[in-house]
Amino acid sequence: MGRLFRSYWIPALLTEELPENDCPPVRVKLLSERLIAFRDSDGRYGLMDEFCAHRGVSLWFGRNEECGLRCPYHGWKYDVTGQCVDMPNEPEHSAFAKKVKLKSYPLVERGGVLWTYMGPPANQPPIPEYEFANVPSSHSFMSKRTQECNWLQAMEGGIDSSHVSFLHRGDLKTDPLFKGTRANQYNMKDLRPVFEVVESPGGLYIGARRNAENGQYYWRITQWVMPSFTMIPPRGGHPVHGHFWIPIDDENCWTWSYDYHPTRPLTDGEVAAMRDGKGIHVKYVPGTYRPLANKDNDYLMDRVAQREGRTYSGIEGFAMQDASLQESMGPIVDRTKETLVSTDSGIIMARQRLLRAVKALEQSGVVPPGVDLEHQRVRSASVLLPADQPFTDAAREALIAQPGVAPATV
Ligand code: FES
Ligand SMILES: [Fe+2]
Repeated sequence: MGRLFRSYWIPALLTEELPENDCPPVRVKLLSERLIAFRDSDGRYGLMDEFCAHRGVSLWFGRNEECGLRCPYHGWKYDVTGQCVDMPNEPEHSAFAKKVKLKSYPLVERGGVLWTYMGPPANQPPIPEYEFANVPSSHSFMSKRTQECNWLQAMEGGIDSSHVSFLHRGDLKTDPLFKGTRANQYNMKDLRPVFEVVESPGGLYIGARRNAENGQYYWRITQWVMPSFTMIPPRGGHPVHGHFWIPIDDENCWTWSYDYHPTRPLTDGEVAAMRDGKGIHVKYVPGTYRPLANKDNDYLMDRVAQREGRTYSGIEGFAMQDASLQESMGPIVDRTKETLVSTDSGIIMARQRLLRAVKALEQSGVVPPGVDLEHQRVRSASVLLPADQPFTDAAREALIAQPGVAPATV
């Protein structure tokens, strides 16, 4: 699965983490590799092995100056490609620096995110074109948080439309980024959605059907694009949102959360709410990307709110309602003990598709779904449809990202 992730550009840092030339370097762990990111005097981004090739000092202590990151121990200096360009403790005529290069990966900016590609250079795909990353920056907002469990069980929560009517029911009514839409009424009136999951070019369309008036169905269609991009169906005129889950290592992941509107800027009120941890975003332990409500403080469990139904689980906010339960399963949930039912069909099919892609990649070098830019130009949708129309036909247009076209939403 690690090699599969190395087929894609993945989010590595928020652009705001490297705000200016020669700013402090940032440690980042991805796919079990400890890396250092920095921005040099000319504005170029670099992502390379965290540790100096000389005797292993962390370059987080480094001096970011004159187009390179200099190790503070003996002054070796590296450029953004990881090439050692200066070895000031060696004889002046020594050319040894040329022979020293740290492992490095490309780092490029798009949509407020610094993306990296950690696979074989010969297979490097084009830069991602998810719609949230392509709209003007005034239309989108991105946050990230650490999550203390394997990426897959977190992602499985992202494609599990059935939990919304339970776990998040309190917040559907009160959260400024969710409340006040008809969608919420459909969600609450029919707690037993019927799932229809269909393969898409890049992953899955996960359709959840609920009964609506006049014999119609209310469909919520989630997009999953491999390996771990999800897009939750919109609600009314609110911004649309979704996630990426990126492995830090086997037992930790980054949860990336985007919010955007395809055809309008976000309002000041929306951005303020997102920064305040509303919607799918969180409040942080100051100076970190760790959620303020976390495992060490029992996620600030509020039993009174739970009893009174203000929140269903006693935890506040969509993000930590999800993360608390996903982390509660343990770092890697034991799937031999699960009891899967019909509403888990999206999860079942996603696992099958991932396994198939891993095998095809390993056995015959097949490029996995989701690498192709066409696979990334998708939208989720929430629509009312006549009972006899399959959502894949009736909502076909709505499931494609089209610049300037408003999302299909109820
Ligand atoms: S350990 Fe970095 S220069 Fe010696
Ligand atoms: Fe959720």
